[in-house]
Amino acid sequence: MLIHSAAQLLTLTGGPQRGRSLGQLGLIEDGAVLIRDEKIMLVGKTADLRAAYPQEPTLDAFGCVVMPGFVDPHTHVIWGGDRAKEFERRLEGARYLDILAAGEGINATVRATRAAGMEALIAQTRSRLFRMFSHGTTTVEAKTGYGLQTATELRLFKALLALEEESRLDLAFTFLGAHAIPPEFQENPQGYVDLVCDTMLPILRQWWEVHAPGRLLPFVDVFCENSAFDLARSRQVLTRAQELGFPLKIHADEFENLGGASLAVELGAVSADHLVKTSAADIAALGASETVAVSLPCTPFGLAEHDYTPAHQFLDAGCILALATDCNPGTAWNESMQFVIALACRAMQLTPAQAIAASTINAAQAIRMADKVGSIEPGKQADLLVLSVPDYRHLGYRFGTNLVRQVIKKGRVYSVDVGYYRTA
Ligand code: NIG
Ligand code: FE
Repeated sequence: MLIHSAAQLLTLTGGPQRGRSLGQLGLIEDGAVLIRDEKIMLVGKTADLRAAYPQEPTLDAFGCVVMPGFVDPHTHVIWGGDRAKEFERRLEGARYLDILAAGEGINATVRATRAAGMEALIAQTRSRLFRMFSHGTTTVEAKTGYGLQTATELRLFKALLALEEESRLDLAFTFLGAHAIPPEFQENPQGYVDLVCDTMLPILRQWWEVHAPGRLLPFVDVFCENSAFDLARSRQVLTRAQELGFPLKIHADEFENLGGASLAVELGAVSADHLVKTSAADIAALGASETVAVSLPCTPFGLAEHDYTPAHQFLDAGCILALATDCNPGTAWNESMQFVIALACRAMQLTPAQAIAASTINAAQAIRMADKVGSIEPGKQADLLVLSVPDYRHLGYRFGTNLVRQVIKKGRVYSVDVGYYRTA
């Protein structure tokens, strides 16, 4: 299939974009892409590709923007229940960390998730994944972390593996057993950390070989925060995970600066995420490393807080900056990377081009998939979007509506929007 007549084809070629190099779109005017089976074969100008492949079935982009599918590298997409009441309580003045310390917040979702049947969990998560897909996300990272006991955490993985099997999306998996201290360990938090390290991680390792044979091991993540896992306990979990061969991630500096980003760098974690209260020393450490800095602007937005990731400090330090939704029931129930981009432009002063690169090639790097997705270049998976806009800056500029017209996943075309933009 030949996709042609893209007013702007954003290729995002050249690999992850570090520091001030962020925002190189590899823009081809009147661009075309040749797709065979599930892969991208050739990229160029419409006139050249149409002349070279006159018999090829075509998809006319009608003067729209064509770009890689979004990669969402940080979500908690699988959970039971909702926290609408907690949202209202926070608007009335209750604080997120106080609610968490009182055994509510994350633990309210843990109770609902433990109580939910497999079918209900799958059905609710399926609809969230579908909303992600129809808003242009073609690859998504999904964390466990609302089970917080061995059997339930494994049930969440089982559901996620089943969802990936049936869905159009590609998933990357993360174990977040260290998300909160569960109710039954409130008096003995160290006991829970030991359970994660001595029981859950080794069992997961064996379980994975049986239930996801041939697949890379999932990431292991930890919520490094005083009301969850302090720096020493975060180190204990991540060090144990590393000994067992798991790749690492961390939730760091969402509310307080504990040094989690430097811990991530020291352990060679694939990414450090949130990064709102990060110190200058931690930012410098990230900038000198391969660890991707993942910013989640929906979280301060969802909590109505003032501080966001100081993105330009991260870029000045040479960090590989990525964006994600953090989709979760507590702080940020949002499935749309388009909204993340709009927010990043305003609250973090990124340009649309920077936010787009952070949501595609750099986001792919944050889940170790930059060799396969995140850009439009020969050999890569054919995951593309046709947006119903004539200029890429409409991403960021516009917000709250869906600008995706078609999603092309592994070479198959799915229509989202019936309207389209046509030049002249
Ligand atoms: O990334 N910070 C920890 N986890 C989520 C919130 C989870 C919840 O409140 O349910 C986050 O913001
Ligand atoms: Fe998170």
